[in-house]
Formats: sequence, C-alpha cells, structure tokens
Amino acid sequence: MLKQAADVLKNASRAVVMTGAGCSVEAGIPDFRSPSGWWRQIDPRTVATTEALEHRYELFHAFYAARIEQLREVRPHNGHSILSKWEHQGRLQLIATQNVDGLHQAAGNRNVQELHGSIRHFRCASCGRPGAEQAFLDRAPCTCGGRLRPDVVLFGEQLPEEAWHASLAAIRAADVVLVIGTSLQVYPVNQLPFLTDGTLILLNAEETGEDHRFDLVLHGRAAQLLQAMDEQ
Ligand code: APR
Repeated sequence: MLKQAADVLKNASRAVVMTGAGCSVEAGIPDFRSPSGWWRQIDPRTVATTEALEHRYELFHAFYAARIEQLREVRPHNGHSILSKWEHQGRLQLIATQNVDGLHQAAGNRNVQELHGSIRHFRCASCGRPGAEQAFLDRAPCTCGGRLRPDVVLFGEQLPEEAWHASLAAIRAADVVLVIGTSLQVYPVNQLPFLTDGTLILLNAEETGEDHRFDLVLHGRAAQLLQAMDEQ
C-alpha cells in the first residue's frame, strides 16, 4: 500500500494535501478527538464559540492563551519538512489545512490555505483592527476599547472565503488528494476531499469512518508515513 501511494504521488502533476490536527501531533501539539485530545478535557462548545468570546471571555482567553504558550517551543517535524520539499520540487500545488498552528508555513510551504484561520494572528472582536499576540496574552484592550481574539474560525463562524475557494479549485483540478491526520468530522472541510476526480489517499492513525471512500488508506503516524513515502 505504501509503495502504491508513493508511486501515485511520484506520477502526480497536480497533487493537493489536506491536513488536520493529527499532522501536528508529532510536533507536540495534541489533536482534538483522540483520547489525549483537547476535546477530551474541555467541551469545544464552551470555548471555541462566539458565545464564549462574548460571554465567557476569561475561559475563552485561558483556552487560547494555553494553546499559544504551548506553541512557543513547538517546531515543524520531519513530515512537515517533506511536504515543504515536495512543494519546492513541484510535486505539491497547495496545502489546505484545518490547523491553526502555522507549522506548514514554518516548514517552508508557501501555498498554505488556512481553512480554520490562524492562532498566530489576532484582531479586535469589535472593530477588527489587528492586535499583537502579547497584547492578547496581556488582555490589553484594543484602542477602540474592544477585546482581542485570535484569527481562528470559531464554531458557527464563516470560513475564510479566499482560503475556501483556493482549496476547492485546487482539489477539483487535482490528480491526487492526500489527506493527513484528520477525523473528517467537521463540516464543511470534511466534504472537500470528495470533490476531486483524482486519486484519494488517506494517512491517519486510526479509522475515520470515511476510509471506504479513499482509493488508498495508510494507518500510522504522519511523520513516519511521509518519510517512508518520500524514501520510496
Ligand atoms: N499521525 C496521523 N494521524 C494522527 C496522529 C499522527 N501522529 N495523531 C492523531 N492522528 C489522527 C487521529 O486518529 C484523528 O483521526 O488525526 C485525527 C485528528 O482528528 P481531530 O482531533 O478531530 O482533528 P481534526 O480532524 O483536525 O479536527 C477538525 O475540529 O475542533 C475543530 O477546528 C478544530 O480544525 C479542527 C477541526
């Protein structure tokens, strides 16, 4: 199966990658729905929502501040570096990611579409003016008096139009879509891979419930599988 996946990628001319939290786990960032994931400790509906932002700012702030602090010593892993190499070799057109950690860009990928936004950037929840990370961590108000928030897409919010359309166009035109480290449980990103006529490959640590819709499925850890594919 791994050799088949490597061969499919080698012969691809318009490959697209879609990643989820499982692609960052080996860099030290917990995912959401695994036994050790974030949503095992805290209910997303209580923190990752505009309701929490507006009515429970302390809890909202504590949750995102913890994730920002955690990112300080986090670096891309070897799998991220391989995805960057593949882009520079012209094998990979675009990464559509659900991750907000910025690790694909840190590894050197240039065409990264952040479908759930980014925790690396901040804005005022009232006037939309950009804010600095330290100002968010210090709970410093915006000059308009509003409170700062990370540029992540909260549950119930619209996805960034440009990222969505760029990802959709690339996936429609792709001859291979490689999906890495996602449970495929969150709409509408979980629909994206199936909008391609290309070959569908899934790299994931466990069953997703959608495995049967993929042409090739490799169960394992993202960094290790990417390294093995790259070596093939
Ligand atoms: N290698 C490969 N897959 C892994 C690894 C790993 N090292 N570790 C975990 N996984 C798999 C898990 O088995 C799981 O199927 O990655 C998947 C991660 O799924 P989720 O935790 O649901 O993360 P994700 O699919 O990205 O969640 C989507 O939900 O909470 C929202 O906005 C948040 O973007 C997130 C969205």
